[in-house]
Amino acid sequence: MDFKKDFPIFQHRPQLIYLDNAATSQKPLVVLDAEKDYYERLNSNIHRSAHFLAEEATIAYEETRQTVADFIGTEKKHEIVFTRNATEGINLVARSYGDACLQESDEVLLSKMEHHSNIVPWLQLKERKGVNVRYLDIDENGQFVFDSSQITSKTKFVSLTGMSNILGSIPDLKPIIAAAHAKGAKILIDACQLAVHSPINVQELDADFLVFSAHKMYGPTGVGVLYGKEELLKKMPPFLGGGEMIQEVFEDRFTPNDIPQKFEAGTPNISGVVTFKAAIDYIGKIGFDKIRSIEQELTEYTLNKLSALPYLKLIGPKTTDNRSSVISFAMEGIHPHDIAEGLSQKNICIRAGHHCGQILMDTWGLPATARISLAFYNTKDDIEQAVHALEEVYKYFH
Ligand code: ALA
Repeated sequence: MDFKKDFPIFQHRPQLIYLDNAATSQKPLVVLDAEKDYYERLNSNIHRSAHFLAEEATIAYEETRQTVADFIGTEKKHEIVFTRNATEGINLVARSYGDACLQESDEVLLSKMEHHSNIVPWLQLKERKGVNVRYLDIDENGQFVFDSSQITSKTKFVSLTGMSNILGSIPDLKPIIAAAHAKGAKILIDACQLAVHSPINVQELDADFLVFSAHKMYGPTGVGVLYGKEELLKKMPPFLGGGEMIQEVFEDRFTPNDIPQKFEAGTPNISGVVTFKAAIDYIGKIGFDKIRSIEQELTEYTLNKLSALPYLKLIGPKTTDNRSSVISFAMEGIHPHDIAEGLSQKNICIRAGHHCGQILMDTWGLPATARISLAFYNTKDDIEQAVHALEEVYKYFH
């Protein structure tokens, strides 16, 4: 089935081969229509004015909250906080929960394959509070090197990726979540890459916090989701101050609103949140079974094609086990930026660099990687053209 026909960018740019989906996905027409429709028929501020338009806009905004709650398997929609992106969600937790609940010498456990957005907020917490930040090692398949002794009574917070944006690996989180909880530590899952490839159930996972971004899920930029367990969100102080996050304001104090509004200061990205519902509905209509089976087949195809190039080295898992469709590689004697530039000249978009994962790059002694990241709308022909272009780039430099 030709899913590209759902995405107008491929009609406007028929030559485009888009293999940079881990950076951001393309948007289907239903999402673009939803945004236009919002501004044409519904535009108003929410949760404030009493007029009918505000009421309708508020209903639409809150419908997305319900859709997101259903999408990740929580029955409590007030456990869903809208942010600008996953990065803001992690910052919110580090600032609010971290400042309120962690003390000097407490330990925050991360891994060496975290995105900078799941490292820097914790290093900032270290600067503010004197917590220690430790890192789990990563094996060659992109799995955490973990045993339960790595979580001690000092470990108060664990924050880990659900899928690596560099290696594509999907680590086994369950034993770590269980070990964290056995020691009374809380755990945040960065599901930024995972949420578009795999169903997530926060109750089964028993995550305390989980974040993801709409723009990687066929939705708009500027919308993130923070899920937090009700009892934790309730005891956390607000992150940003302003309108809507308060109940009452006096000259010398304020009382915060209930969750989730307590964490949604100011006018949010209303059109983005409303539009995000269309993206989640779109994913639901296709279904993760289909999405996963297409992406697994494309991943296997890509891994086989890339493995056949003797001068190319795959970085990370070499098989489709415990991974999704993000594939990093290096080519003998050619900087990844030159690879990406060579492919770009042929209308092929990939990403090259450290992918906001400098700690993994430094640990593995890599200056950078080239990265293909596939969505279910990609085709085997896209991959063949990319591989052909890689062969040409190699010839050009040798
Ligand atoms: N985190 C995004 C990526 O890996 C931007 O490309």
